[in-house]
Amino acid sequence: MTVDATDQQGRNIVLSGMMGSGKSTIGRIVAGLLDRPFVDTDKQVEETAGCSVATIFAEQGEAAFRDMEREAVRQVAATQGQVVSLGGGVVMDPDNVARLRATGDIVWIDVPVEVLVGRLASSAKPNKRPLLEGDQDPDALHSRLSALRAERYDAYASSAVYVLDTMGRSSEVVAQEVLAWAMQQPGVLSPEERP
Ligand code: S3P
Repeated sequence: MTVDATDQQGRNIVLSGMMGSGKSTIGRIVAGLLDRPFVDTDKQVEETAGCSVATIFAEQGEAAFRDMEREAVRQVAATQGQVVSLGGGVVMDPDNVARLRATGDIVWIDVPVEVLVGRLASSAKPNKRPLLEGDQDPDALHSRLSALRAERYDAYASSAVYVLDTMGRSSEVVAQEVLAWAMQQPGVLSPEERP
């Protein structure tokens, strides 16, 4: 694999977890604190495809979306020094995980299903989450998210080097914990990023 990186850049901080876990919000805060670029694999896919994730699912199917997502991961993992938010299903593909781990470290933002339901039931992002289509009432959402989490648990757990239990804390506080972890984790912060 070709890696466009210098010794001066820290490893990527890669946030993983279920839909609604706050990866993008937390990732943007961490990126701002470190003055790093923030990259979101869903956004990357949408920019390349020129349409929303939901439109890709509807018109081309999930398999086509996963191919595009793999390509987004390939591009993201080719550069270091970024903060990356992953679509919730990225780590289900072991090749994605291997690529991401070559240039970064994955942090699993683990949020209880009850909290996800509260957030996603009122989500303003229907275009982004076609897997939840038709499951907007809280009970249906709870069953769907519990099943997805159970199916993905091993992939989330084994791909991550750090599991962050948000424990109802704000995104700002969780972002500070990511930063504290990054300071301890060899190679994540560049010499310039260290306090
Ligand atoms: C998905 C999560 C979504 C998006 C797509 C599929 C998943 O991203 O990639 O709808 O498989 O969990 P977020 O986790 O950012 O919502």
